Amino acid sequence: MSDPVSIGDATSAEKASAHENWGSRIGLILAMAGNAVGLGNFLRFPRQAAVNGGGSFMITYFVALLLLGIPLMWIEWGLGRHGGHYRKGHIPGMFAAVWRHPLAKYLGVLGMVIPFLVLVYYTYISSWTMAFSFYSLFKDYWGRETQELMISYLQSFQGFGAERVHHPITPFVFFTITLAINVWVVSRGISGGIERLAKVGMPTLFLFAIVLAVAVMLQEPVPGGGSPLEGLEFIYRPDLSGLTDASVWLASAGQIFFTLSVGMGTLQAYASYLSKRDDIALNGVATAATNETAEVVLAGPIAIPAAVTFFGVSGAMAIAQSGSFNLGFATMPVVFQQMPLGNVLGFMWFALLFFAGITSAVAMFTPVSAFFREEFGLRRETVAWGIGAVAFLMGLAHIAWLKYGFLDEWDYWAGTFGLVAFAVVEVILFVWVFRPENMWRELHEGADIRIPKIFKFIMTFVTPAYLLFILVWWGVTDALPILRMEKAAGGGQLTPEMEPYVLLSRGFILFFFLVALILIRVAWKRNGYDDRKGFPVVDVSGQQGGTR
Ligand code: ALA
Repeated sequence: MSDPVSIGDATSAEKASAHENWGSRIGLILAMAGNAVGLGNFLRFPRQAAVNGGGSFMITYFVALLLLGIPLMWIEWGLGRHGGHYRKGHIPGMFAAVWRHPLAKYLGVLGMVIPFLVLVYYTYISSWTMAFSFYSLFKDYWGRETQELMISYLQSFQGFGAERVHHPITPFVFFTITLAINVWVVSRGISGGIERLAKVGMPTLFLFAIVLAVAVMLQEPVPGGGSPLEGLEFIYRPDLSGLTDASVWLASAGQIFFTLSVGMGTLQAYASYLSKRDDIALNGVATAATNETAEVVLAGPIAIPAAVTFFGVSGAMAIAQSGSFNLGFATMPVVFQQMPLGNVLGFMWFALLFFAGITSAVAMFTPVSAFFREEFGLRRETVAWGIGAVAFLMGLAHIAWLKYGFLDEWDYWAGTFGLVAFAVVEVILFVWVFRPENMWRELHEGADIRIPKIFKFIMTFVTPAYLLFILVWWGVTDALPILRMEKAAGGGQLTPEMEPYVLLSRGFILFFFLVALILIRVAWKRNGYDDRKGFPVVDVSGQQGGTR
């Protein structure tokens, strides 16, 4: 094992610089796992598994994990730690460190804008979980024992539908509180904020998930419904019938991206706070394993078996198809009302979602925050509250225009398609431009394990080919029709009423890209970087070396 102390072995030079360090190895692993384990594990995964045929989805899911997820995990840890060697915790700097070309830094714009866009709507969705944990504990929705009544309750909270349950200001209040907590954690720094949050949040999340999984699995079969085991069987019994359907392959790849946080810029940013002496080979795969345990072992036995127990397999599939959040926010509350101590279980469900959400959201701040701190010398607190202020304003737009598909646009272009586009660029740069030998050497510096050699081949050829296939296939079958406004980004019909909001939503995406590109240019100019020479090496001892 490499010396775990080196992770926190910061010198005064480092402490004074904008670049920080992890306090301990366990803290790093929990924070990385917190980054990956999120709403995607407990909300997105069961829905994707249900609408894409259960057992077929799981086969394609494991193929994507092996050929995309795990290789990209290593690539991102390697790219990030390599960038950290030059005190670059942001993607434009990391790209420029592996490709000495003026274009490299501009390609890094993807790794600044994507995490920021996802941060905004992700924090908004996390805020629903905070609200619903209180509503569960105090039995606010008790008495709404049908799916329809709960959907109406959820829609009222989201600001649409015919019914009015809470004051319209309520979602704004919960969003503000959730965002403020995020910003506060980020403003406390890597080891003082993010790592501490992970040390509390991750064990709590796992504990709550275990209790919920056990409670659901012990549930007696319900007349008119099924049994929890039927739910498990639906997901886990291998089924080859859906393997010829390209959309199942695309959906599982999309889930792997989102759940592992690959293609987002956040894993790289976290890894940049490591030194060459720290292991990334074992830590990288440990992060993926922790995420998969949370998703397949813990999330699997919760939402789908609960829905199947009360509504049967076809009922659960219909619910999942009826809306992205219906399984988690409508079905689960119906189920909790019929379980002993249901209000406590409901609280635990939404609190675990909240912890899952917040430990991922703080990671989404990191690449942008690193950019402003490292390139403009701004203080951590200033940067955190500044990013928070912009996120707040954009969050207001998301809350107000959710019903017009404003959020779905961001989720599609940044949180789905954007992740794959970013991954294509980073793989080309870190594997092909940087050279496979250098990538392989980087991954093994300070490593506690040797990565099986087959993965060098996979990362060099299979992962890029798989990514390109997804990008092209998705581009043609999905992205183009959405871009041409032939269908809505969230699926379904795009109504004329939605069109101006969809265009506005896209306008904001373009605006943030433009601003980020200008900022990158300004940063390079003000710091006098020479694109062809690279950055000076600053190793973990804080001493500057030559350029490499
Ligand atoms: N990886 C995070 C999630 O699963 C973003 O929600």
